[in-house]
Order: sequence, then structure tokens, then C-alpha cells
Amino acid sequence: NTSMKTVIISNRLPVKIIEENNEYSFIPSEGGLATGLGDVYKTGNSIWVGWPGIDVPAERQEEVIQKLGELNLYPVFLTQEEINLYYEGFSNEVLWPVFHYLVTYAHYEQNYWDCYKSVNEKFAKSAMQVLNRRDKIWIQDYQLLLLPGILREKLPTATIGFFQHIPFPSYEIFRLIPWREEVLNGLIGADLIGFHTYDDVRHFISTATRLLPVNSSSNILSSNERQIVVEAFPMGIDFNKFSSLTESEEVQYEITNFRNGKDDMKIILSIDRLDYSKGILERLKALELLLQLHPEYIGKIELFMVVVPSRDTVQQYSELRDQIDQFVGNLNARYRSMDWIPVNYFYRSFPIETLSALYASADICLVTPMRDGMNLVSKEYIASRNGDDGVLILSEMAGASKELTDALIVNPNNLGDIMEAIVLALKMPLEEQKRRMVAMRTIVEKFNVKHWVNNFILRLNEVKDTQKSLLT
Ligand code: UDP
Ligand code: G6P
Repeated sequence: NTSMKTVIISNRLPVKIIEENNEYSFIPSEGGLATGLGDVYKTGNSIWVGWPGIDVPAERQEEVIQKLGELNLYPVFLTQEEINLYYEGFSNEVLWPVFHYLVTYAHYEQNYWDCYKSVNEKFAKSAMQVLNRRDKIWIQDYQLLLLPGILREKLPTATIGFFQHIPFPSYEIFRLIPWREEVLNGLIGADLIGFHTYDDVRHFISTATRLLPVNSSSNILSSNERQIVVEAFPMGIDFNKFSSLTESEEVQYEITNFRNGKDDMKIILSIDRLDYSKGILERLKALELLLQLHPEYIGKIELFMVVVPSRDTVQQYSELRDQIDQFVGNLNARYRSMDWIPVNYFYRSFPIETLSALYASADICLVTPMRDGMNLVSKEYIASRNGDDGVLILSEMAGASKELTDALIVNPNNLGDIMEAIVLALKMPLEEQKRRMVAMRTIVEKFNVKHWVNNFILRLNEVKDTQKSLLT
């Protein structure tokens, strides 16, 4: 195939393998990168390179390559040791906590870093298997920060874009990483570097100019005669998919079932991966405070809390899971009655139809991360509210709060603030709900994920054209 295609490279593919009775099948991956981009990559001329989520033994790799090939996906196989050191280790015990400002959670192990470097090389090798000379390369997220630089060395004139789905911290935080210059040098192998918000862009530019011999002029970095453009591209969702899904027969059936016997109950919904960045315990504490200070709501409200298992082999994650179990058990035991329970807690993932029914049924969606690059759950709730009612409570620490300014914006560290927002939401007149919801739906519909992809690729082409014209 000689035509120009886009090669997307991310740690995790949009599907993952599950093994049952020695049979492999594929199910959708969780997390914003996979759900957001997974919708659009199929429509273009592209191929996606990444890890299929488990350790595939050598004798079954050919089978996996074949099956994924039918979906335009190309696997990178990681050994158990690489999963431990590169994925759980450097990616999720160094970069994830530091980039989310939880620096005390970081373990700066030399063998994590060594393996991170070698696995980034491995991704480059796999990518080279599917890359043609004129293809565009689009690398995704913090697990592959060195990949732009590695590919730049192999392909000096290639078009390379990079998008980071998580926050970029301020210089004072980033400088803590022992291998900080090498990380940045890897990143600036890209032609275009994208983040969700302008704050991330600012932090990155200020960090790069302090740590590397580069100059910056507004949002352009200059290094060795190469120019790198850094910009904000707030990611969107497939608005039409979520909006039309709620009207489907299957989802309507689930909604009726779910709402049965709960006519006067106010439903509060929260959906997250298990992660300390999501503020799950703080949210539960705010609910406890509400039940303490406003006993008139006992028996009148229910929290539906979906926590999707994630990275539970990393210690901080398994500890958080235990803490949530304990808190929910304790709260429910103290407040429940014979026919009511304050927290309906699910530690599992759900098919999208069930998520859609939950979004469509919930009077309030409570999204309170301590830090979040964007947060797509908040946008999925908005897109599912075809009746224009419902209230979104949103942390100011989520990238989405920059766009969804008609949400009730809260500081997730301020439990009283969250509690008051819930009370406000419970009392909010329908007129005001609709005014806010319509404004937010307009934004989520317009700046959808197609718009995001097109914008990024368009900008990447422009940047490359400008570079070429500078050279001639
Ligand atoms: N999600 C999912 N299965 C579930 C629950 C949630 O696939 O059972 C999806 C959800 O629809 C959303 C994504 O996981 O698209 C979470 O993305 P978000 O940006 O909110 O947070 P992230 O997990 O990327 O930190
Ligand atoms: C976030 C990250 C993604 C990641 C996802 C799920 O959205 O930005 O890169 O894929 O979480 O996490 P996991 O570790 O399971 O891939």
C-alpha cells in the first residue's frame, strides 16, 4: 500500500485480549484514549500500533497478529518483565503520579527507567514494520515519551505528531524526575506536541526552555534548526453516538428497568477507572458529610458509583481499592435502611449500553478528580442528556472544566464545597438545569472527537509544510 496513511502508536490498543478456555477474543479497552480515539480511527486510512493488554506466549503471537490485522491493528508484545518495569513501573509509578502532582507516590527506580527506554525502542521497531516513507506518525501519551526522538533519528524527515492525554505539570514538579532532560529530548523529536489545555502547554514550554538548550517564541520551540509547535487540542467525544444510544430500544429497556421503583429517588452517578487521581474517597466523604448535615436527604438520594478495575497490580491502586471497599461498607452499614442504601458500588466495567442507561437516568453526575487531563465521562454524561435536564458537578482540576463552564464547578479538596454543590444540584429548578445543559451540549456536540482529530492532523500538516518552506 503506497498511499499515505496515519500510523497511530499508543501503549494500549483500543481492544484488549481476554482468554477463556484457551480461546482469545477481543473486547474494547477502557480509558479515555481508547474510547475517544477508538471511534474515529476506523473511518480514516490508518493503522494503530500498540500492546494488546496481556502477555502473549511466543507460539500464539502469529495468531494475534493475524486477527488484529483484520481490524487494522498491529500488536507490540510485552513480556511480563516489561509489563512490570515499563508499564507498571516507570509509566505508572513515576510518570503518572508525578504528572498528577502526587510526587510522594513516585518510585524513581533505575531499572524502571532502563526498561522504559528499551520498550520505547521496541515500539519503534514494531512501528517500522508498518510504516511507509510518506506516512504520518501520531504517537499517544506518557508511556511513549521517548518514541518521537527515537523515530526522528531513524526517519529524519518524517511527520511526527505527539499528543499527551494527561496533564503536564509545572517545572517545579517535573524537575524532580531524575531523567528529566532525556525525557524532554525524546519528546521534542515530534513536529507538533499537543495537550488538552493551555495550562499544560505553558508548563511544557517553560519546562523545556529551562532544562534544554532551546528557545521559545510564543508556542514554538527552536532546537538545532528544527521547530516544534506546542498547542492545546481539547479532546472531545463521539456526541452523536452517545446521544442516539440513549434512544435505542436496548438502552430504553435498561432505563425503565433501572428506574423501576425509584420514581422519586434522586440518582447521583459517578464513573471512573480505579485511580487515586479521581478523588473517589473525597467524593464519598462529601456524601457522608451531606448525610450528616442534611439528614432530610436520607432515603431520598442514591449514589451509583462505578469503579472500573485498573492497574491493580500497582500497590497504590490496590490500597485505594481496599480503602474504597472499607469506606463504602462502613457508610452503607451506618445509613442504610431495610429498603434503601446510600451507595450502590460496582467494581467492574460495563458495556456501553449500560453506561448509556446510567448516564440517561442520573439526575446528577458527580465528577471530582484531584487532577485529570481532560475527563471524558463528564462529556459523555452531557451528550446522553437528550431532554436537556440533569446537573453536572465538575472538579476545576479536570481539563474539561475549561470548556464546561456551565457545570457546577468545585474544588475537589473542599468537601464542604462538593456537599453544597450536591445540595444546589438537588434543588436546581428545571429551567436552570436546561439553560446550563443546552449550553454545554452545544459545546460537546461542536467540539467532538472528529473535530479533535481533524484539527490535530490539519495542524500537523501545516507545521510540516512551514518547516519545508523554511528549508528551501
Ligand atoms: N468506560 C468504559 N467502561 C466502563 C466505564 C467507563 O469503557 O465500564 C470509559 C468511559 O466511557 C470513558 C473512559 O472509560 O470513555 C474514561 O475516560 P476518562 O477520560 O473519563 O478517564 P481516564 O480513564 O482516561 O482517566
Ligand atoms: C488514561 C491514560 C491512557 C490509558 C488509560 C487506561 O486514559 O491517559 O493512556 O490507556 O488511562 O489506563 P491503562 O493503564 O489501563 O492503559
